[in-house]
Amino acid sequence: MENPEHTAFPAPAEKRARQTVDANWNPIGGALSIAGVKIVEMKNLVIKGGTLTEIYRPEWFDGLMKVEHVTHVTALPGFTSKWHCHQDQSDVLFVLGGYFRIGLYDARPDSSSQGVSSVATYHLRRPQAVFVPPGVWHALRNVGITEAAYIVLNDRPYHYENPDDWILPAGSPDIPVSLD
Ligand SMILES: [Fe+2]
Repeated sequence: MENPEHTAFPAPAEKRARQTVDANWNPIGGALSIAGVKIVEMKNLVIKGGTLTEIYRPEWFDGLMKVEHVTHVTALPGFTSKWHCHQDQSDVLFVLGGYFRIGLYDARPDSSSQGVSSVATYHLRRPQAVFVPPGVWHALRNVGITEAAYIVLNDRPYHYENPDDWILPAGSPDIPVSLD
């Protein structure tokens, strides 16, 4: 509620910070504004000597994600991946360590969210799995100061002769999204 004593506050209204989370500390908008993208948040256990986190269950992804392939990627500080998307394959991205900014861009001509993009920062302190459906461009940037790592769960094995990967370079004008 507005405090009437602050009506003369000299800062203009446009200087007010925008809302970024709701009362349950769920981010507002972001990746979920892209059709088909899903973010699953996991709780974890603090156990004797460490933590335990379950990072995949098929029912978390509405039956759309049956894991057939898993890759582990490391990234040095400042590394930015190329933008890429898949025609048929779905990905689940999960940050294992460090700070990654993950960018998404919807260029699907038949999508209700065509042209919508999202950039958010992920860290294992808040374990999250990002489901990226086919046709949504994605890229990652290590914005931390240490080597970082993530895994990618795929719903089909990598096809060596005909990879289901379409690639644009980092900073491509075809994708108006900055990971800086
Ligand atoms: Fe991918």
